[in-house]
Amino acid sequence: MKHFLSTKDFSRPQLESFIDAAIEKKATREAGKPLDGKSIALVFFNPSFRTRASMQIAVYELGGNPVVLEPGSTSWSLEYREGVVMSGQKAEHLKEFVRVLGRYASAIGVRCFAALEDWNSERADPVLNAMARYAEVPIFNLESAMHHPFQAMADMMTLRERFGIRRPKVLLTWAYHPKPLPMAVPNSFALSATQLGFDLRIAHPQRYELDDTLVDDLRSFALANGSGLEFTNDPDSAFDDVDAVYAKSWGSKHFYGKPEAEAVLRKSLKESWIVDGRKMDRGRSPIFMHCLPVRRNVVVTDGVIDSPNSVVIDEAENRLHIQKAIIAELLK
Ligand code: CP
Repeated sequence: MKHFLSTKDFSRPQLESFIDAAIEKKATREAGKPLDGKSIALVFFNPSFRTRASMQIAVYELGGNPVVLEPGSTSWSLEYREGVVMSGQKAEHLKEFVRVLGRYASAIGVRCFAALEDWNSERADPVLNAMARYAEVPIFNLESAMHHPFQAMADMMTLRERFGIRRPKVLLTWAYHPKPLPMAVPNSFALSATQLGFDLRIAHPQRYELDDTLVDDLRSFALANGSGLEFTNDPDSAFDDVDAVYAKSWGSKHFYGKPEAEAVLRKSLKESWIVDGRKMDRGRSPIFMHCLPVRRNVVVTDGVIDSPNSVVIDEAENRLHIQKAIIAELLK
């Protein structure tokens, strides 16, 4: 039994083989029916458009039956902590939920965002890890507090489509957003990029550093793969000589649980941390990437996202193909 929680748990050849299989599936739309007679549960604690639609269609196209559950909405609210007296709002414990679901379904996908309330506990991905600990079937991470591996693999597939075997120089840049957001997307993008040997530059304002342990992992992967890894706090020179720009906002780990204080700092970054044509012109005609949803003219200007260099729709399409490739491999 193999979970899919983070790309970190997979070797570079395994990640490369997922991308190869996804590119083949995209070209032929042939996937066989490896999930014939099987159901896959998709558990959403948080909203979704792309992940929900692409996972349901991926399971269907593999011959399986997707079953969507929404704890706290159309199914019972769930407790995940050990040893608590469940006298509050939570009606059922994950221990029962995940094992019962495993008797029905061959695998369980789960989306469980960070609440951005307590950095020290949320950085440990408590809901996802509780699911994985109790599960008797594979768990697929559909975006947790710290990781969004299917998104990252769709992004890596998109880079491969655009650059082939050439290893482009990639910028992951923080961008302004009116609300603090979780770090799962930038974490997974940076991990998979360094695992696959891309030269990666990460730009963010001061106080928006990524998790220390994750940065240690990035350094180890970059060293092992002979790739570059740079950090900068300059939102303009960050774009110099890059081939691809990945924009994403995330909340400051120093301000989890203190949204009013973070809002003051965030507001001061509004003008300088938008992706616009002036910055893109500093690169080597870079492609523009974003996981979506994106706020136009806040994170990125219309001119950039509507330009021929924008690959955001390809990234979203590739969610379907990479998920089919990974699910088929892990459940074969
Ligand atoms: N990129 C992504 O995961 O989109 P959704 O939040 O709409 O699923």
